[in-house]
Amino acid sequence: MFKPPTIAWEDNRVVMIDQTRLPGELILHRCDTVEQMAEAIRSLRVRGAPAIGIAAAYGVILGLQGCSASTFEEFEEQMERVMALMRATRPTAVNLSWALERLRSVAVEHKGASVAEIKKALLVEAQAIHQQDARLCRQIGENGQELVHEGARVLTHCNAGRLATGGIGTALGILYVAHRQGKKITVYADETRPLLQGARLTTWELMQEGIPVTLICDSSAARLMARGQVDFALVGADRIAANGDVANKIGTYNLAVLCAKHNLPFYVAAPSSTLDLALSDGDQIPIEERAAEEVTEVCGRRSAPLGVAVSNPAFDVTPGGLVSAIITEKGVFRSPYRRSLSRMKNHRGNQGPARL
Ligand code: MRU
Repeated sequence: MFKPPTIAWEDNRVVMIDQTRLPGELILHRCDTVEQMAEAIRSLRVRGAPAIGIAAAYGVILGLQGCSASTFEEFEEQMERVMALMRATRPTAVNLSWALERLRSVAVEHKGASVAEIKKALLVEAQAIHQQDARLCRQIGENGQELVHEGARVLTHCNAGRLATGGIGTALGILYVAHRQGKKITVYADETRPLLQGARLTTWELMQEGIPVTLICDSSAARLMARGQVDFALVGADRIAANGDVANKIGTYNLAVLCAKHNLPFYVAAPSSTLDLALSDGDQIPIEERAAEEVTEVCGRRSAPLGVAVSNPAFDVTPGGLVSAIITEKGVFRSPYRRSLSRMKNHRGNQGPARL
């Protein structure tokens, strides 16, 4: 297991692994202000849905550290400004606004307390979000074991591992637990154009753990499946709508279609904080559009003609109908998702995993 942690609160500031520098350099990046945190999230120094939820929560703490408000109303005004800055960083992962809502509720609960006490309560909540994510990852890892057989050959996309969460990861968390249980799994990692999270981060993580991993171009997944070299695909998620539609890294939908064509299971792993049951389907999920240069340049060098039109959505939406199962900390959920996910919301996780 690699150290240091992906993100940490230390001495009144945030320290994170700068993921833009991996795998070449393992460098720590520090954020002392909410503006620095906004930059870190936008530039993907910290990334992955659960990790940006944690980062945004700490960002709020940073933004309120110097707050000298004398009334709750003044404090609330500044808190809203700071939250707006965090919310504007990346729109797709619902974990970010979910974390902000948790902090807002704590502030409101402490309305009668002093500003110093409210700040203290907010920090405790941000740290709880962080620690809870580590526990949820572990539980997702355990719950996913019924889907991973001895010798499984797994195809994954982007990075849904330690670098994307406060714990062992979601999709990769399942693979870590399988590996620790002695299952001889092997992994194919899509390189994940354009920002190469699969090539740069997933391979790096898995190699540290000693899990056999083969890096492939995104475009070779179909051939691998046609040759019978993959047993299932397993990915993370940024937001899941009530009908099971899943927003995840661009290219995920391609994989799901390929799995359907080759009769292979397509699994999604995510904590319940990634569910957005207020959205009835994936059409309502906001999809982040990123800079054209991410597509027109490779490692800082132009790879397309100047002036070419570019489309660069960071995520796509896989229809729930293509998702074989959604693995959460509360259990393994299957279609019809409208029913199973809404039941899951009321399921008490400590009674053992649900199978709905
Ligand atoms: O743009 P990124 O790198 O933040 O995208 C990350 C993903 O798409 C992950 O698969 C998703 O956030 C799940 S992480 C557990």
